[in-house]
Amino acid sequence: MKVIFDTDPGIDDAMALLYLSKLPQIELLGITTVVGNASLDTTTRNALFLRQKFGISAPVVRGAGKTLDGVEKAEPVIVHGLNGLGEIEIPDVDQSGLADGEASQFIIDTVRAHPGEVTIIAVGRMTNLALALRADPEVARLTKQVIIMGGAFGYQGRSGNITPAAEANIHGDPVAADEIFAAEWPVVVVGLDVTHDIILDTDYLAALSRDAGENAELLRQMCDHYARFYKEIMGLSGVVGHDLLAVTYALHPEWFETRRGPIVVVRDGIAVGQTIQMPVERKGGHPAWAGRPVQTICTAVEGDKVLAHFRDTV
Ligand code: BDR
Ligand code: CA
Repeated sequence: MKVIFDTDPGIDDAMALLYLSKLPQIELLGITTVVGNASLDTTTRNALFLRQKFGISAPVVRGAGKTLDGVEKAEPVIVHGLNGLGEIEIPDVDQSGLADGEASQFIIDTVRAHPGEVTIIAVGRMTNLALALRADPEVARLTKQVIIMGGAFGYQGRSGNITPAAEANIHGDPVAADEIFAAEWPVVVVGLDVTHDIILDTDYLAALSRDAGENAELLRQMCDHYARFYKEIMGLSGVVGHDLLAVTYALHPEWFETRRGPIVVVRDGIAVGQTIQMPVERKGGHPAWAGRPVQTICTAVEGDKVLAHFRDTV
């Protein structure tokens, strides 16, 4: 499976990247970066660091540092730390992994080079994908599948994490997300409805670090910071592996329950960033969803299988 990984590393982004790097079925074509968990300079530096650490040969391509509306703002440092990776020590990184050019053009060129074959796994704000679509709308038809970590649809009693209505990757650039859902490519949304079933607790992380060596130990160190955030702010014991679940979906969609229907993102007002799907079985329709393609959201997951697969893979 040919994959472009669009990301804002980010601790759970690092988990997803390690996972991708260890899956023999995955041919990683590129890692595109976006502002989000930290500034664009920081997420790009982190992608280069992780690429080197995990022995990945695919290039890193720098992407959007602002939303489509020109807002340049990262998420609060309390979540992923000032350096985006939980304050672990990051040495000077080798810049040779950084490709020339910019992420949206890389996405266009790569999809056009392999028509119908490329899966995009997007686990940050959707700005790079939206810029690619705006520049070359045909890209949607030529992409095999887009798997997104983002959104919250109210299944399993789950609501947003930035506001009660909105999840971070969507809230960070709601216009971009809305354009992604309106395009004619098959989108699967792995949102908070399912990612909160993927809790890596202290025992799990300790076992991972014991059995999976240096890179898993690096993840465990990053998670010390992440766990403090989840404990203090959400009362959780352990960390949520949001982004790794988008990778699992690429390989094991049968572990998920899904629902089909067009999706709209609230673009402004108090509920900005809210994701709302109109299920296909709801008759009658509504003008807000009219003319939008039917997309897929995940509503439940077999979390134990995912945690076992992640552990066995890395
Ligand atoms: C998403 O926001 C970021 O903090 C995480 O990396 C993940 O992609 C979860 O809401
Ligand atoms: Ca992310």
